[in-house]
Amino acid sequence: MKRIAHISDIHFGRVVPEIADALVADLKALNPDLVAVSGDLTQRARPWQYRAARDFLRRIPFPKIVVPGNHDVPLYDVGRRFLRPLKRFERYITNDFSPFYADDEIAVLGVNTARSFTFTNGSISAKQVEIIREHFCGIPQETRKILVTHHPFLPPPDDLKRRLMGSAGKVLTTLESCNLDLLLAGHFHMSYAGGSHSVYRTLARSVLVIQAGTATSSRVRKEKNAYNTISVEGDQVELEVRMWEGRGFVHYRKQRFHHDDERGWDLGHAPHSTADPSQHLSKSGDGIEENLEHISLQARREFR
Ligand SMILES: [Fe+2]
Ligand SMILES: [Fe+2]
Repeated sequence: MKRIAHISDIHFGRVVPEIADALVADLKALNPDLVAVSGDLTQRARPWQYRAARDFLRRIPFPKIVVPGNHDVPLYDVGRRFLRPLKRFERYITNDFSPFYADDEIAVLGVNTARSFTFTNGSISAKQVEIIREHFCGIPQETRKILVTHHPFLPPPDDLKRRLMGSAGKVLTTLESCNLDLLLAGHFHMSYAGGSHSVYRTLARSVLVIQAGTATSSRVRKEKNAYNTISVEGDQVELEVRMWEGRGFVHYRKQRFHHDDERGWDLGHAPHSTADPSQHLSKSGDGIEENLEHISLQARREFR
């Protein structure tokens, strides 16, 4: 069994220090095999914010996969934004934009989805898809393949209008033959999980999508600060959301997911919302419009 701590959107520059301290303590007690940090390390990509994020990550004594988010690209410094968007990330955090961890049970790859132009929504390039295929396609099927990005592949359950990463459907289709198991991301500052089937019905196998809230930022939206612990054992994944309750992180919600070799990750539930589900789909010709009816049906179900 392998245990992954999934933290996201730590946003140094807008961090509550006691929450950051409590998170380090909780992670040390958890003793995970790996910590996945899915982007937005800083609030505005300032050097002092990067230094604070770097110092925080150094306090976490476990292997880490770290990817940048849209907030890690300078927004107002236009020259830096377009010419050297992630230079500071490279300087203070890592110059590895395809960080990879593998053992006998899991293979975890991080990919940078932050962009200067598609600032909010992000994207994955054709070259990055090739990098993902190189890392995952030769790995035995029973090894769980986990991709870490900042931008999500699935909308929040109560807001299906939210736009997703550009060409997300095409990327998943291209990666089908690699038997991808799990997608970890952040960005929306909301914890939720679902199957890729709830949006991308043409995929043969459903990929499990787990989203993390913001672990330490004061910019909370609809939920308190939270992070995920993910236990991977054979064909089972157990997700525990741990949430800030004023003095420390405590158990909030647990979900179990089962893998089937033919259908992938069968969840028995999907994001729900009363919103029009067609609104969140990109117009980029992902070929997933036929899924709308399914989403509408799934949207009526209870999420948890
Ligand atoms: Fe964020
Ligand atoms: Fe973000």
